[in-house]
Amino acid sequence: MSDPVRKLAFLLFALAAVWVQLHQAQNIPIRCSCPGTVKFAPNITDFEVKERRSGCDKTELIVTIAVGNNSTIQRCLDPMGKLAKAYFRCWENKNKNESRKHECIERKKKTDQ
Ligand SMILES: *[C@@H]1O[C@H](CO)[C@@H](O)[C@H](O)[C@H]1NC(C)=O
Ligand SMILES: *[C@@H]1O[C@H](CO)[C@@H](O)[C@H](O)[C@H]1NC(C)=O
Ligand SMILES: *[C@@H]1O[C@H](CO)[C@@H](O)[C@H](O)[C@H]1NC(C)=O
Ligand SMILES: *[C@@H]1O[C@H](CO)[C@@H](O)[C@H](O)[C@H]1NC(C)=O
Repeated sequence: MSDPVRKLAFLLFALAAVWVQLHQAQNIPIRCSCPGTVKFAPNITDFEVKERRSGCDKTELIVTIAVGNNSTIQRCLDPMGKLAKAYFRCWENKNKNESRKHECIERKKKTDQ
């Protein structure tokens, strides 16, 4: 390899190493789960409330969204947003009962339409 190529290869390698480290840093278990949030999401099929915990000083709401035919994506809803608040309220009202969670989802679907 000529010298410039070697330098470039080294640079790329170094960049990759940094990237891997950053990436792993995000996977440290006690951290907030949401890198970013959206205010609104259509077609929510499921949700998960992540309570405040050590390492994450806020309650997070992760929703599963149906897209297209048969696939879903997950997004975090802005916990200060109207939609997230409605879910939090409903979730509290059901005493955080997993088996009644769908009632919150059904209810939101109806009011959205
Ligand atoms: C939401 O679901 C409806 C019915 O399945 C679909 O027609 C619509 O395209 C979906 N909206 C989005 C943004 O995916
Ligand atoms: C959804 O599924 C139908 C039937 O399986 C197919 O014809 C259509 O192209 C699909 N649409 C998308 C957006 O994948
Ligand atoms: C939808 O996705 C599930 C899980 O990936 C798969 O088992 C199922 O066959 C898919 N259905 C259609 C209509 O593509
Ligand atoms: C959750 O809800 C189901 C169905 O309403 C009920 O049978 C069950 O006892 C509830 N569980 C708790 C822990 O409240």
